[in-house]
Amino acid sequence: MNRDWANIRKDFPILNDTSHVYLDSAATSQKPQSVINAITKYYTNQNANIHRGIYSLSEEATMLYIASKEATASFINASSYRSIIYTRNATEGLNMSALLLENELEEGDEIVTTVMEHHSNLIPWMKLAQRKKCKITYVKVNEIGEIDMEEFKNSLNSKTKIVAFSHISNVLGTINPIDDICQIAKRNGAYIVIDGAQAVGHIPVDVGKYDCDFYAFSSHKMFGPTGLGVLYIKEELLDRFDPIFYGGEMVSHVALDEFKYNELPWKFEAGTPHIAGGIALHAAIIYLQEIGIENIEKRNLQLLQILQTQLQDLPYIKMYGTSPQKSSVVSFTMDGVHSHDIASLLDRDHICIRAGNHCAEPLVHSLSCNSLARVSLHIYNNEEDIQKLLISLKNIYHKLKNG
Ligand SMILES: Cc1ncc(COP(=O)(O)O)c(C=O)c1O
Repeated sequence: MNRDWANIRKDFPILNDTSHVYLDSAATSQKPQSVINAITKYYTNQNANIHRGIYSLSEEATMLYIASKEATASFINASSYRSIIYTRNATEGLNMSALLLENELEEGDEIVTTVMEHHSNLIPWMKLAQRKKCKITYVKVNEIGEIDMEEFKNSLNSKTKIVAFSHISNVLGTINPIDDICQIAKRNGAYIVIDGAQAVGHIPVDVGKYDCDFYAFSSHKMFGPTGLGVLYIKEELLDRFDPIFYGGEMVSHVALDEFKYNELPWKFEAGTPHIAGGIALHAAIIYLQEIGIENIEKRNLQLLQILQTQLQDLPYIKMYGTSPQKSSVVSFTMDGVHSHDIASLLDRDHICIRAGNHCAEPLVHSLSCNSLARVSLHIYNNEEDIQKLLISLKNIYHKLKNG
């Protein structure tokens, strides 16, 4: 569908009901009315536990939950919904990946990741490496914010068992060369874990093409609700792993001395899941598909270029992450002004941006900074939002500079 971008904001009630200029979509996206409606409708008309009741209300809820899994699988080109595990968020999915891979590691094995990772894709590997006495190698990022691919290749060896990296950096916006990284890691026989938190809902994602083993992301960054994440695991691996959590839903038979795992993917989802969340994520996917992910990618690129061009004209602003392969995230510093002050002063003009280390402290320090201001755009932003930001940034600088 060809969208009239000027009218897109009407789909997001929060942008109509408040005066906020929302420029923090990398933290969480706003929600379209259709997603809000799906949650309300579920609790108003469809609420029942899934898989359990032999009555039509429960059957309907079960059907809706499975339809959500099917939609998610097809959205990222997974071969089947059996590969789609719903989690609380991307962080839980990445932790699960590390726990599931624990038995695949022996002392002295190696894990390769990068300096640009979010803490959610760092700490689980640091803890795993501690527990299993493994080494972690961190691939550096070059001056424009890209992974150094030569260094990446050189960091792999026969002991490398896991390669874990982000599809898109939440600080630099860099879109990593995922096909190349996956091919190289596969040739080396390593498991591939991808943190797709900033990618899904922004650019096309194709886990089938990447041939990765794990791909984790969060519903709330792709117009869906909070409290729900997705962990894709390649189907042929799923029988190899025992689940992390045990209890109801994940078993098909229990006696006091034995139990049998449920079918996939339910084996990995113990307890009552976030049913409303799953159904609402389906609504978010339908919304994304109606607009078209390629159109979303193009629109966000257009907004990014406008923002970057305008910021380039301000000599007191330094941007970090200038790769040509970039999503609509811009991190920057302002001469002599702390990023927390920038964010607080922008808030007085109702402009929402994020400041700090963005849960990527090693990366921010590697850029010789303690804190960065970050603007992240999505399709509901427009040139007017960017103009308001620019006017406020200029005012902040001149006011603080002139004391
Ligand atoms: C690149 C990246 N990975 C992981 C996460 C963690 O996502 P969540 O907090 O939804 O688990 C984020 C959140 O900002 C992120 O940007």
